[in-house]
Amino acid sequence: MQEVAGKTAFITGGASGIGLGMATVFARNGMKVVIADVRQEALDEAMAGFANTNLAVHPIRLDVTSRTDFVAAADEAERVFGPIHLLCNNAGIGVTGPIKDATYDDWDWLKSVMLDGVINGVQTILPRMRAHGQGGHIVNTASMSGVFASGDAGIYITLKYAVTGMAEALRWELMDENIGVSAFLPGGVRTNIFMSHKLRPDGMTTGYAEQDARKENLAAAFRDAPPDAPISQITMDPIEVGERVLRGIRRNDLFIISHPEFREGLQARCDALMRAVPDEPLNPSRLAMLRQMGTLLVQPIYADQTTPHGAPDAEGREKTVR
Ligand SMILES: NC(=O)c1ccc[n+]([C@@H]2O[C@H](COP(=O)([O-])OP(=O)(O)OC[C@H]3O[C@@H](n4cnc5c(N)ncnc54)[C@H](O)[C@@H]3O)[C@@H](O)[C@H]2O)c1
Repeated sequence: MQEVAGKTAFITGGASGIGLGMATVFARNGMKVVIADVRQEALDEAMAGFANTNLAVHPIRLDVTSRTDFVAAADEAERVFGPIHLLCNNAGIGVTGPIKDATYDDWDWLKSVMLDGVINGVQTILPRMRAHGQGGHIVNTASMSGVFASGDAGIYITLKYAVTGMAEALRWELMDENIGVSAFLPGGVRTNIFMSHKLRPDGMTTGYAEQDARKENLAAAFRDAPPDAPISQITMDPIEVGERVLRGIRRNDLFIISHPEFREGLQARCDALMRAVPDEPLNPSRLAMLRQMGTLLVQPIYADQTTPHGAPDAEGREKTVR
């Protein structure tokens, strides 16, 4: 989707952090943007920020775990702005800790938002996108944790791998339909993610109470630090993130990577996979059979990925093209 002006975006978790950064950048570039979020107060606050801007932004209260509410939200989005061209499956919760401490409730809650929520987005909006035939794009916000196991966040990592995998599978399926699909893989971004545990539904147990409390302190430290303090430099600004996502959409990137700091970590995982391939002669009859059966031994979607150069500009375009 090279040209975005006049098109409609639907962003889950759009009232805060990365979703709000994307919404702002998309709207500044002429898109009509629906921000869908479970927190009414966050929607109100976000809309107050858009007051007097002339940007086309419409808030919808939505819990992505509800299939029926997702359908109602998509209906409302189409009524207000017309056909949806861009779906950003972005809502997520940053509750983390080791798998060995997890309760079933921890698994169930995180899975319902971060995997079922993405499934609901695709099941609801992809058929509409295919039906209007004007082309489109889907962005699944995964994480660096969606491509390598980045620490004490086992459930989060498991689910982020799933949404990365879904983006890859869907991209191949939709290759001939003028609908691009990206997995967005950010590192640290300045958002409200450390307060996610506050959204835990009543009655659910957790093995992560200690981590939740630690994150709350960290959130306060981030909030109180001046912009030039070292702690403020750790994370990326959500507007810059939005510009990087828009560039990825315009470029039709399979993987949108905002943080080049993770190059070494990614390389280490790719190298480990390659080292794990048995060093032995190929079995010619098995290879011939696999080829005859049309088994996908090399997935063509990977060949198209190229490297973006430098940071993008405010229109989500490359500043330097080599
Ligand atoms: N902040 C980071 O450093 C970082 C890094 C990698 C990936 N991510 C991912 O980015 C995405 C956005 O997170 P963020 O950092 O902007 O956090 P955030 O907390 O600022 O924003 C997430 C939004 O999702 C909403 N949400 C939560 N549950 C929901 C539900 N059931 N239905 C609808 N909305 C719901 C929240 O209300 C919130 O407004 C998440 O998927 C997160 O996993 C964040």
